[in-house]
Amino acid sequence: MSDTNTLLTLTNVSRHFGGLKVLQDVSLDIPKGGIFGLIGPNGAGKTTVFNLITGLLPTTSGTIHFEGQDLAGRKPFQITRGGIARTFQNIRIFKEMSLLENVTVGMDARLRYGAFGLLAGSGLFRSEEKRARDRARELLSWVRLDHKAHETADNLSYGDQRKLELARALATEPRLLLLDEPVAGMNSTEKSELMVEIENIAARGYSVFMIEHDMRFVMGLCRQIAVLNFGRIIARGGPDEIRNDPQVIEAYLGREDDERDEATNDQKAAA
Ligand SMILES: Nc1ncnc2c1ncn2[C@@H]1O[C@H](COP(=O)(O)OP(=O)(O)OP(=O)(O)O)[C@@H](O)[C@H]1O
Ligand SMILES: [Mg+2]
Repeated sequence: MSDTNTLLTLTNVSRHFGGLKVLQDVSLDIPKGGIFGLIGPNGAGKTTVFNLITGLLPTTSGTIHFEGQDLAGRKPFQITRGGIARTFQNIRIFKEMSLLENVTVGMDARLRYGAFGLLAGSGLFRSEEKRARDRARELLSWVRLDHKAHETADNLSYGDQRKLELARALATEPRLLLLDEPVAGMNSTEKSELMVEIENIAARGYSVFMIEHDMRFVMGLCRQIAVLNFGRIIARGGPDEIRNDPQVIEAYLGREDDERDEATNDQKAAA
C-alpha cells in the first residue's frame, strides 16, 4: 500500500454531490518530508480533497491511507489526533481569545471540539499547563507572533490571523500539515515571511501538503506539485515540469487573471 517514503495515499478517490462529480478517480501519494502542492482553477475540487482527508466528508468511492492505515469512517477529531492537522480557506480562530489561548486550545484535539476546561483552569495540572503555554509560545515564535502572545486575536492583521491559524494547527503535533491557501489575502511582505516560516516548519520535519493559487509561492516552496482540473489530476511533477506542461498551461497557468476567472466560472457552471 504505502512504501516508507509515502505518508498519505489517495487511491481512485471520487466524490459526488448528487449528480455533481466533484472528484473523479483521484490517485495521489504525498511523500514523507518536504512540501507538496496542489493547484488548479477555482472549483476544481482542491478543498474537497482536504475535506475527504480530514474526515469532514466521506469519499463516494476510493480509499485514503495515512501511514498505511485506512482513514475510512474516522471522525475529524480522530484524524487530528492521528496526526493530520489543517488550516481552512476561511480563517477559523477564536477572535475574542488571546493568541496564546488560541494555540493552547489547539493542543488538545478534544478541547477543540467543545470543551474549554483548559481555559477555565480545570483541565490540566499546573505543570502541564505551563508546559502547554511554553510550547504554545514556541509555536507562535515559529510564525513570529510570540511578541503578541497576549493580544486578542481580533486585533491581528488578516495575514497574522492566518499565521495564528497555522500555529494552532501545529499545536496538535501533526505529522502532516494541510494548508488551504495559506497566503490568500496576504500582502507581499507577509507572503515572503510566511514562505520562510513554512520552509522552516518543513525543515523541522513536518510534512506539508498545500493548496495555493499564488504561483510564485507554490513554485518557490514545493518539491512536487499536482494539478487538479475539473476533479481530475491532469499533471504531477516538479515546478519546472508543471510550469512547462502544455495541459496545465492550457487549463490554468497560461491564462491572464481575468481569463483565469472565466475558467473558474466555467468550472463552477459545469459543476
Ligand atoms: N458540501 C458540498 N456540497 C455540494 N457541493 C459542494 C460541496 N463542497 C464542494 N462542492 C462543490 O464542489 C466543487 C469544488 O469545490 P472545492 O471547494 O473543492 O473547489 P476548490 O478547488 O477548492 O476551489 P477554490 O480554488 O475556489 O477554493 C464546487 O463546485 C463546489 O460548489
Ligand atoms: Mg478551495
